[in-house]
Amino acid sequence: MDANIVLLPGDGIGPEIVSQAERVLRAIAERYGHEFELSSHPIGGCAIDEFGDPLPESTLNACRKSDAVLLGAVGGPKWDDPHAKTRPEAGLLKIRKELGLFANLRPINPHPALLDSSPLKRHIIEGTDILFVRELTGGIYFGDSGRQGEGDHASAFNTMVYSQAEVKRVVRVAAAAALKRRGKLTSVDKANVLEVSRLWRHTAEEVVKKEFPTLEYEVVLVDAMAMHLISRPTDFDVVVTGNMFGDILTDEASMLPGSLGLLPSASVGESGPGLYEPIHGSAPDIAGKGIANPLATILATAMLLRHSLQLGAEADAIEAAVTQVLDAGHRTADIAQKGESSIGTTEIADHVLQAMSG
Ligand code: IPM
Ligand code: MN
Repeated sequence: MDANIVLLPGDGIGPEIVSQAERVLRAIAERYGHEFELSSHPIGGCAIDEFGDPLPESTLNACRKSDAVLLGAVGGPKWDDPHAKTRPEAGLLKIRKELGLFANLRPINPHPALLDSSPLKRHIIEGTDILFVRELTGGIYFGDSGRQGEGDHASAFNTMVYSQAEVKRVVRVAAAAALKRRGKLTSVDKANVLEVSRLWRHTAEEVVKKEFPTLEYEVVLVDAMAMHLISRPTDFDVVVTGNMFGDILTDEASMLPGSLGLLPSASVGESGPGLYEPIHGSAPDIAGKGIANPLATILATAMLLRHSLQLGAEADAIEAAVTQVLDAGHRTADIAQKGESSIGTTEIADHVLQAMSG
């Protein structure tokens, strides 16, 4: 297969982890006889420095023309000035919106070898296998916002708004995924308070009843969900929710497997390239030290191969290699237990490449 893959390393540890994922992609191409054309483009803080724009036209155009996009991370203290004209995060929000990536898939399945590195007790998390489907191009992230007034009277607002069409399409993605998994769908909202959630709830229920009648379906309020996620995570299969609730709940859920450093995510739309990224941020505190965990990005690469290029066997091979490396006890600092030794970014990727060729 010939495929054009755009790499957006971004800021902080982004370049270090994406370059390890790039090695994995090249190894897959060689082993399975594919031609992957890889090109790197700036996004986020480094793009602000170079072009004054966190998502330059040239980067967006390259993404539009590609088959899939692999992103590292954006942001860092250098670009945190609250009075700055733009921020690195704006580049990420814009690329999601421009590519129409309305569904963000975040799988949470704690690796058996790492159960004891989670802050939660083993008996609670053992057997957890959740797929979060977070709405990504609507809600409070994209509603009307503004500031008004002066001094003590200064105020600011953001608006959480969803159309039925936006709810329907993301619920369909989640419900279809649930059908292929254990057949259970949980929709999370705040319908006891928010009008927008009442529309979400009503619309989601209609889609499920009409189009996916065999699913086991439940609705949970977001505050209760925050609690259930850490008290009985094994009860959930696919969870669908809005943009901000999904942002918060998936960071919480990332503690189930012990580290953000292991979690990949896929953002997909109706058609066109998907965007794949680790769910962690740019970790500026450890950038450039060679100790960042590249496994989430390597696992995001597997998602890219599976979802955008239909290369399931290649994706399986990467995931199996990561499992093998963790089973063998190799750890980066973020997932090492007290007293365990840890290895660096390149070294752990070396082990993954070795496991793939073994
Ligand atoms: C995420 C991140 C982003 C978000 C930020 C960096 C804009 O936290 O992908 O979860 O809030 O969506
Ligand atoms: Mn987030």
